[in-house]
Amino acid sequence: MITKLLNWLRMPRRKNRGVEALRKKIDPARLPVHVAIIMDGNGRWAARRGLPRSAGHRAGVESLRETVELCCELGIKYLTVYAFSTENWKRPAEEVNTLMNLLVEYLERELPRLQEQGVRLHPIGRLEDLPPHAREALAKAVAVTAANDRLILNLAINYGGRDEITRAARRIARDVCQGRVKIEEIDEQLVASYLDTAGQPDPDLLIRSSGEQRMSNFLLWQSAYTEFWLTPVFWPDFRRQHLLEAIVAYQQRQRRFGGLGNNQTEKN
Ligand code: IPE
Ligand code: IPE
Ligand code: MG
Repeated sequence: MITKLLNWLRMPRRKNRGVEALRKKIDPARLPVHVAIIMDGNGRWAARRGLPRSAGHRAGVESLRETVELCCELGIKYLTVYAFSTENWKRPAEEVNTLMNLLVEYLERELPRLQEQGVRLHPIGRLEDLPPHAREALAKAVAVTAANDRLILNLAINYGGRDEITRAARRIARDVCQGRVKIEEIDEQLVASYLDTAGQPDPDLLIRSSGEQRMSNFLLWQSAYTEFWLTPVFWPDFRRQHLLEAIVAYQQRQRRFGGLGNNQTEKN
């Protein structure tokens, strides 16, 4: 009995020590500037517990809160999280409603905390197709956090990489027709400036939880040279430790961008 109690008392300390040890392994000078996350596995997390899928989505909100907090503490400048894809409308209406309501709830409840932490909310995706209450909650959070610059939180909602590129192509075509852009001026930089992430650096690190190994239409253009880190952990179980593990792994990678990874032998 006493041993059990002692073990229980020791548990959180041990866990914290693990997190602190991971933190120490991180080189603050080589942090990823932009981290992107496919927050996947809420449904399976709930199913394992005999709970409805909505319980998984609800539990996932806590993981997002913790992730935002840690990104702020570490000094990561951009965090893009995939909350709802252009394909997620295929799910039963009840689940879609739950997700939209959870978004509104998250924004309302977290707004003061986001503000306190210096987070600027920047939704990306086809926002005009969202239900009015979701659009309003997003608009409010954007307005309230507009002056913050500690962390830019791109919330990908009704987002699809193909849709984003298609929308950009339309706007470029319109600007060409109206004489604002010359065809010869269309280059990678110009295309990037028409995307929802205009002005932001590409993600350095992309994390996907739940063991799936695919892009699912996330940041297709921006992730051309992004480092991937995949974990079998379901999103509601994703804790500080996992983000730290991902960053440690990222810092051990050699990024070559198509070159040789050796400055001396590379041309500019
Ligand atoms: C991720 O979890 C959340 C969204 C896609 C909105 P899922 O709902 O996809 O959970 P799984 O993949 O079915 O377990
Ligand atoms: C990707 O997860 C979208 C989000 C996490 C919001 P999905 O669960 O929708 O992806 P697939 O269907 O397994 O590829
Ligand atoms: Mg999924």
